[in-house]
Amino acid sequence: YVIGVDLGTSAVKTVLVDQQGKVAFEHSEAYPLSRPQPSWSEQDPEDWVKGTLVSLRRLMEQSGVDPAQVDGISFSGQMHGLVLVDKDGQALRPAILWNDTRTTAQCRRIEQTLGTELLEIARNRALEGFTLPKLLWVQEHEPEVLDQASLFLLPKDYVRFRLTGDYAMDYSDAAGTLLLDVASKEWSVTIAEAFGLPLSLCPRLVESFEQTGTLLPEIALTSGLLTSTKVYAGGADNACGALGAGILGEGRTMCSIGTSGVVLSYETNKDLNLEGKVHFFNHGEKDAYYIMGVTLAAGYSLTWFKDTFAADRSFEQLLEGVGAIPAGSGGLLFTPYIVGERTPHPDANIRGSFIGMDSGHTLSHFTHAVMEGITFSLRESIEIVRESGKAITEVIAIGGGAKNEVWLQMQADIFNASIIKLESEQGPALGAAMLAAYGSGWFASLGECADAFIRQAEVYTPNPQQAAIYNGLFDLYQQVYTQTRELNN
Ligand code: XUL
Repeated sequence: YVIGVDLGTSAVKTVLVDQQGKVAFEHSEAYPLSRPQPSWSEQDPEDWVKGTLVSLRRLMEQSGVDPAQVDGISFSGQMHGLVLVDKDGQALRPAILWNDTRTTAQCRRIEQTLGTELLEIARNRALEGFTLPKLLWVQEHEPEVLDQASLFLLPKDYVRFRLTGDYAMDYSDAAGTLLLDVASKEWSVTIAEAFGLPLSLCPRLVESFEQTGTLLPEIALTSGLLTSTKVYAGGADNACGALGAGILGEGRTMCSIGTSGVVLSYETNKDLNLEGKVHFFNHGEKDAYYIMGVTLAAGYSLTWFKDTFAADRSFEQLLEGVGAIPAGSGGLLFTPYIVGERTPHPDANIRGSFIGMDSGHTLSHFTHAVMEGITFSLRESIEIVRESGKAITEVIAIGGGAKNEVWLQMQADIFNASIIKLESEQGPALGAAMLAAYGSGWFASLGECADAFIRQAEVYTPNPQQAAIYNGLFDLYQQVYTQTRELNN
C-alpha cells in the first residue's frame, strides 16, 4: 500500500491505495478557516497537523492493514499559503492562505519593481493569492515576525516537516510562490534581492517524488505507522490533481469543475510564453510543466444560484429539468464573475450578469444558463491553450461538473472537443499516492503508474449543431466582460 494525504482548505483527506490503484480506505478530518478581517483568510498550522494525524490514525484503524505493508506516504497541498517558522520550527503566526486577498498593494509593488523580469523568471503574474505578496505584506505590517523567521514553508511542507523533522519544498508548489525561477528550477536571487528577502528564507528544493525522510518516533506512535515509513515530498494540489487524472504526456488536458474551475494542460516546453494569461507551473513529473487557467466561481456560481433562488431544492432537483433546455438557454446568457475573475481577466472587481431575460424563462432556463456561463468561462482558458499551438481534441472531465450528463455533453459542445469521464475519480489524493508509489519504485515512470491506476469510462463527443450555436454565443459572451467592467471597476 501507499498513502496519499490531500491537505485541502476545508479538510484533510487521506487515502490508502493498493498496487492496482484502488482506494481501499479513505478518511477526512475537517478544520476551521478564520476570516479575522474581510479580505483575510487564515488557518492555524497546528490544526493541519492534528487533522492529518487523526486522519492517518483512523485510516490505519479502519483498514486494519499492517503498517509494515505501507511502503510510503506523500502529500498534495493547497497552494500558495504562507507559513513562517522560527529557528526551532515553531510557526510564527497563522498561515495566510491562497484565498486571502489583502495583498493588492504588494502585487502592484512586485510588478513595478520587477517589470518584465517577473514573467521572464517566475513565469506568472503577481496575483493576490500567491506567496511572495504575502511575504511582502508581513515585511510591511509585521516586520518583527519576519525578523524572527528562519524559513518560509507552504502548507503541506509544514505538515511534512512536523511529521519527519525535514525541511523541503517541491518544485510544483515552489512555482506558486513567485520566488522560483520556474525554468531553471532554482530560487531566484534577482527576485529575493529586489525585495530585501534573504535567500536563506527559502527551503531546500526537491522533486515531488523524492524521499524527504521517515516518520519521527512520536508521529509513528500517534498515527499507527512505523518510524521506517518513507515519506515523499508531494506536490501542489493542482499538480497532484493532474497526476490523478492522468495528465501525463503532450496533448493531455483536463477540465475540473469544483468550487472553482480549472483547465490544465501538460507542457514540456519550458520557454513557452503565454504572457502570463494563464499560470505556468512545474509538474509533479520531472522537468515537465503545466499551464492552467482558473475560473474563480465555477461550481460556486451554481451553489450561489441554488442557495439564492432555489434553496428549497436539492442539486439533483435543480438539475432535473436542464436536459430539456436548448443550447443557448432561449437567449439567456450568464457570466460567472460573482467573486471576480482570474483567467483570462485577472480582475478582482468585475461582477457577473444575466442578460436576455424573457418573461417565459423558467428556473431550468436560468440553471442551464449558469452552467453554460461557467463553461464559456473555461472555454476562454481552453482557447488560450489552443493559441499556444496545441490542438485540444480531448479533455478529461473531473469534479462536480463531471457528475452530470447534460454538463458533460455541454462541455463537449462548448469546448468543441471529446470529453472523457474517468471510471472512478479520487482527485489530488490519488495523485499524492501516485508520487509515493512511483517514489517507492512500484513503477518505472509516473506514466506507467497512471496506466495502472487510472481507467477512462464514457466519452462525450461534440454535437455539430449545438457546437455551432455555442461558437456564435461564445463571441457574445466574451464581449460582456469589456462592456460591463465599468459597472464595478
Ligand atoms: C491555484 C490556487 C488554488 C489552490 C487551492 O493557483 O490558488 O487552486 O491551490 O487549493
